[in-house]
Amino acid sequence: MKVAVLGAAGGIGQALSLLLKTQLPAGSELALYDVAPVVPGVAVDLSHIPTDVKVQGFGKDDLASALQGCDIVLIPAGVPRKPGMDRSDLFNINAGIVKNLVEGIADNCPEACTCIITNPVNTTVAIAAETLKAKGVYNKNKLFGVTTLDVIRAETFVAELKGLSSTSVHVPVIGGHSGTTILPLLSQVEGVTFSDEEVASLTTRIQNAGTEVVEAKAGGGSATLSMGQAAARFCLSLVAAMKGDNVVEYTYVETNSDDAVFFSHPVRLGANGVEEILSYGELSDFEQNAKDSMLDGLRGDIELGVKFVNG
Ligand code: NAI
Repeated sequence: MKVAVLGAAGGIGQALSLLLKTQLPAGSELALYDVAPVVPGVAVDLSHIPTDVKVQGFGKDDLASALQGCDIVLIPAGVPRKPGMDRSDLFNINAGIVKNLVEGIADNCPEACTCIITNPVNTTVAIAAETLKAKGVYNKNKLFGVTTLDVIRAETFVAELKGLSSTSVHVPVIGGHSGTTILPLLSQVEGVTFSDEEVASLTTRIQNAGTEVVEAKAGGGSATLSMGQAAARFCLSLVAAMKGDNVVEYTYVETNSDDAVFFSHPVRLGANGVEEILSYGELSDFEQNAKDSMLDGLRGDIELGVKFVNG
């Protein structure tokens, strides 16, 4: 198993790389790529941790070597939010970064599963898809927007509110990854009931959780450690699925539904990426209304990505 992290010297990249160095199966390779000159140092630093995962750093001219032979590529490269910004403010810089890196994937490891972390995810996943299509190597089963952070936040907040162990709470989160496009399905949380006020306030908190971190970091960036954990969980789920385990994760993938071209669903993962897109089930009236009112925005975000690549 070879896994590459593109943007490995950043806040998310370093946390994610540490978790992968300690948790990937023995014999795996971890390729760390970044344009920042510190990346070889990050690789040397991690290489001193005694696990059977080989780590190598690749500088800005070595994207091809980092990617050759990869099974999974994770992309957290790009700029994060500062207070007062929303994720769409990152589009101008991050769109080009994602397009360039995905071209590298198309040229060097077109069969790899590509996991997009770079914001705005609603749009950067569409950019990745169009870039891969332009190169003639798009496989919708192998492109993922990583929305796992919304799931782990939802699980943490519900557990806190209800006095439960956060490891025993499972909260479906569908839609996209920004503002009201993030839709937690609190009506489906097993063994827990919520008042209407709790549903409204928890939904808003989950949708704005990223901003909580951005404001608390006061100009020092956005979520990096919790995102590192979320991306590691998603990557390790993909690895387990590739080895034959039955794994379901919520992730932003191309669907054939009427909702939007890309939509976060529960997805059964397998040896070749998406094995099956599962139904997200029945929605409460609150969730149905929330979904109906966010769909146009989500579709617009996706269209922006399509136009960025195709003009
Ligand atoms: P950061 O600024 O700490 O790190 C970004 C890294 O990307 C830097 O090391 C930089 O040198 C590198 N980079 C920039 N251009 C590159 C290129 N062309 N090739 C390779 N590397 C390049 O930022 P942080 O906090 O790690 O966030 C990264 C991205 O992840 C941001 O877009 C942020 O909005 C997003 N994010 C996504 C979340 C999600 O749930 N999907 C949650 C939190 C952040």
